Amino acid sequence: MCGIVGFTGVNPASPILLDGLEKLEYRGYDSAGIAVISDGKIGTAKTVERIRNLIDKTDGGKAVPGSIGIGHTRWATHGGPSETNAHPHLSGNRKFAVVHNGIIENYVELKEKLIKEGHIFASETDTEVVPQLLEKYYDGDLLGAVAKVTSMLEGSFALGIVCTDYPETLVAAKKFSPLIIGCGKGENYIASDVTALISHTRDVIYLEDDTIAVISKDDVNLYDYNKNPVKYDVSHIDWDIAAAEKGGYDYFMMKEMCEEPRAIRQTVDSRIKNGSVVLEDISLTAEDLKKINRISIVACGSAYHAGIVGKYVMEELLRLPVDVDLASEYRYRNPITDSKTLTIIISQSGETADTLAALKEAKARGSRVLSIVNVVGSSIAKASDDVIYTWAGPEIAVATTKGYTTQLSVLYLFAIWAAEQLGTQSKETLAEITESLHNLPNAIDRVLDSKEKIKKMAKHCVDSQSLFFIGRNIDYAVALEASLKLKEISYIHSEAYAAGELKHGTISLIEEGRTVIALVAQEDLFDKMLSNVKEVRARGAYVVACANEGDTAIEAEAEEVIYIPKVHKLLRAAVEIIPFQLYAYYVAEYKGLDIDKPRNLAKSVTVE
Ligand code: AGP
Repeated sequence: MCGIVGFTGVNPASPILLDGLEKLEYRGYDSAGIAVISDGKIGTAKTVERIRNLIDKTDGGKAVPGSIGIGHTRWATHGGPSETNAHPHLSGNRKFAVVHNGIIENYVELKEKLIKEGHIFASETDTEVVPQLLEKYYDGDLLGAVAKVTSMLEGSFALGIVCTDYPETLVAAKKFSPLIIGCGKGENYIASDVTALISHTRDVIYLEDDTIAVISKDDVNLYDYNKNPVKYDVSHIDWDIAAAEKGGYDYFMMKEMCEEPRAIRQTVDSRIKNGSVVLEDISLTAEDLKKINRISIVACGSAYHAGIVGKYVMEELLRLPVDVDLASEYRYRNPITDSKTLTIIISQSGETADTLAALKEAKARGSRVLSIVNVVGSSIAKASDDVIYTWAGPEIAVATTKGYTTQLSVLYLFAIWAAEQLGTQSKETLAEITESLHNLPNAIDRVLDSKEKIKKMAKHCVDSQSLFFIGRNIDYAVALEASLKLKEISYIHSEAYAAGELKHGTISLIEEGRTVIALVAQEDLFDKMLSNVKEVRARGAYVVACANEGDTAIEAEAEEVIYIPKVHKLLRAAVEIIPFQLYAYYVAEYKGLDIDKPRNLAKSVTVE
């Protein structure tokens, strides 16, 4: 996600803003900028390179004078990386400058209305509607204008705002995206996280949702949208810088697991309107879909495992054959594909060499390519006919968590949307699944709340040499991802097996004390799975089961049971994987390993 900094005081603002943006670089970004008020005018500087470039081009900030300003590192969502799309964004009359973190879900309608009223937009971003709306509603009362505008915005936002009529006042507002106020002596700050503040002050105010902060160099006042004063507490931060970067978590992986509900909300909510899935970001039409007789999903690693979940979901809803291939195999297999095949490429980084090569193979054979990518403007995104972005924000930990669950979310969105275009499911069925999709983050929140229980369970497996994950249907796809998570960060060998396959060889490996993790969340196959669990238990396995809340019959057949909140059976993978992301994390933590940077692994495999 994006990074925000802001300053008001007596010293030059730009060097402080640039220093703050450097502290936020770890969050990942593709462009950056600052805006500073001096002599009643807003000066700006932007870059699509690193912050160092911004420092160099502004001579350490001297080229942008003034003692109040805002800065931003952008992780592109709406509109690719460019100086035009980089924040801060200004109003047409250059009275307001705004930086934003989050997604304004109703920006299209707001922008259309403003354009009709004569406002001229420079960028492709959702953010730019904010300064334009401030210009429209401003009548001299800055707080009143901010209150009016923020109450019009839907979605998530953390905003930093400056106005030339108030040359000492910094305004901040937030809803769902984090924003902190740093309290200094004769100067005050805003930032997306404490990392950007901690070298100046450790006294901070965590801004609450639906609150507006009016900040001068000596004063901080908070208000609600009705301009009523709001009380606040000042907290003292005693983290070190490294901990601050992880938001107080020990590892980015835990931070990113805890971000999964928000990442899915950001990815899904703006694509559900009036109970239906709306995919405004693709050119694929119902007519195009009707010409498709096969879907081919190609990816690597966890993205491949997401694709296997997508196979089960899409075949069920679209009644089209769906193949899933490892990109490293697909690219050398002389694949059979053509214009009647829709190729879906999945990649968090958008830079995986095998996946990009597979994309080119598919296109060379006439297949249309739709990609699911987390990095706007990445190589895979640019090479695709259509892209549906996951809006997970930057993922720092090598082991993907929110990247994977937001990939699933987009696969669900696409399957529901395509089923509606093809008329292969009733409106009632699709409405039920869409409602369950909208509520997925709540179910994931509940699983995350049980992390301490999973931490205790994970201890059992710390000394294991090898263990098995078994499941059927979508649970088998989840078993594949759960097994990879454990292997890649704890270095313990594990295998995922379709439970029905055990009797074809693997069961010979089951011996006394062997841990078998049984995923039993597909109710239609519950009895089959129960039989498989009995098979392995009869041979001495120590069974850890994962089942839906209420399916207590499993307790008689398992040493331990992890219950997950029940969601629509087609969407269950996004909830069921959470306990096993946590399980792998805690096993690695018990083993004292570097969870964020596992040995031999890179976050993006840009070479073969
Ligand atoms: C996931 O935990 C792994 N780090 C890895 O399997 C990853 O999913 C794979 O390399 C694909 O990466 P991509 O999604 O960026 O293409």
